[in-house]
Amino acid sequence: MKLIYVAGKGGVGKSVCSAASGIWKAHQGKDTLVFSMDPAHSLSDIFDIDLGSKPRKIREHLYAYEPDLAEEAGSFFRRYKNIFTALFGLFEVEVKPEDFGNMPGVSEMIFMDKLNDIYTEKKYDFVVIDSAPTAMVLPLLQLPSITTGFVTKVLGMRNRWMGMLDLLQPGFADRILSEVRTMRLKAETMRLALIDPQASSITIVTIPEKAAVEESRRLIETVESHGVTVSSIIINHVILDCDCRFCREKKASQTAYIQELKECYREKRITILPDYGREVLGDSLMQVAEDLYAKE
Ligand SMILES: Nc1ncnc2c1ncn2[C@@H]1O[C@H](COP(=O)(O)OP(=O)(O)OP(=O)(O)O)[C@@H](O)[C@H]1O
Ligand SMILES: [Mg+2]
Repeated sequence: MKLIYVAGKGGVGKSVCSAASGIWKAHQGKDTLVFSMDPAHSLSDIFDIDLGSKPRKIREHLYAYEPDLAEEAGSFFRRYKNIFTALFGLFEVEVKPEDFGNMPGVSEMIFMDKLNDIYTEKKYDFVVIDSAPTAMVLPLLQLPSITTGFVTKVLGMRNRWMGMLDLLQPGFADRILSEVRTMRLKAETMRLALIDPQASSITIVTIPEKAAVEESRRLIETVESHGVTVSSIIINHVILDCDCRFCREKKASQTAYIQELKECYREKRITILPDYGREVLGDSLMQVAEDLYAKE
């Protein structure tokens, strides 16, 4: 199984490129899942199919999945019940299960947990991950050290007051530790998968404009400093065949940014995706897939 993680700034075309990548792999006979890691899912709209909250087969070899965050937050909470009971108790906060998924960082943990289930199940040849605009690969890479920090804390706590808690609820401390170990193991499995080029590839989608190019550079630099290699860059919304004054001027500035990216990232696969002049949905995704991969 190979993971293809699609990242980039908001609105640049990550979901369209994820959907089209899924279509292309499926077209080549590979069982492929397009997995949305964005709480504001958009794959249903892009595929023009109601997806529901379980992986759904949408054509030969192609599946798509938009986990329902509220639903998954409930089962995630139950899976790690002891950890969260201890944590919320420690900080004296009261969190309703339905609000849990909206807490900062929690959606990443839930999606990571779900992705790990899919990764260890090994049911698909490819899993294309459509990420959220703000989400970066980083939270996934940092989870193991966060959970390690937590283990250390819990171990420290254990000496001080876990013994007392154990008296009130026998086995509480051990149950917490066992849940923390499970969580950490899952996070570490995904971190190792992401830094292994045989198991994962990361694609950055960008547009040829200053802010997007700068943000992509920062994203690539940060991600690569964690040992993850970005293998390809998709430059989207490129104006190709229009000679009106507006497009000529836009094209000139786009060309400069495209050149800059090509020079800066010679070792990466850079693909130009035209601006289609209309929304990309449903059947038109095959055209995007061909523009992205047919020349390979
Ligand atoms: N090459 C293109 N030509 C024309 N329209 C496009 C192109 N690529 C994407 N779009 C349109 O741009 C909009 C945003 O695309 P998309 O949802 O894929 O971006 P995103 O990066 O996933 O956004 P978000 O960060 O909000 O998740 C959509 O309406 C999509 O149809
Ligand atoms: Mg999106």
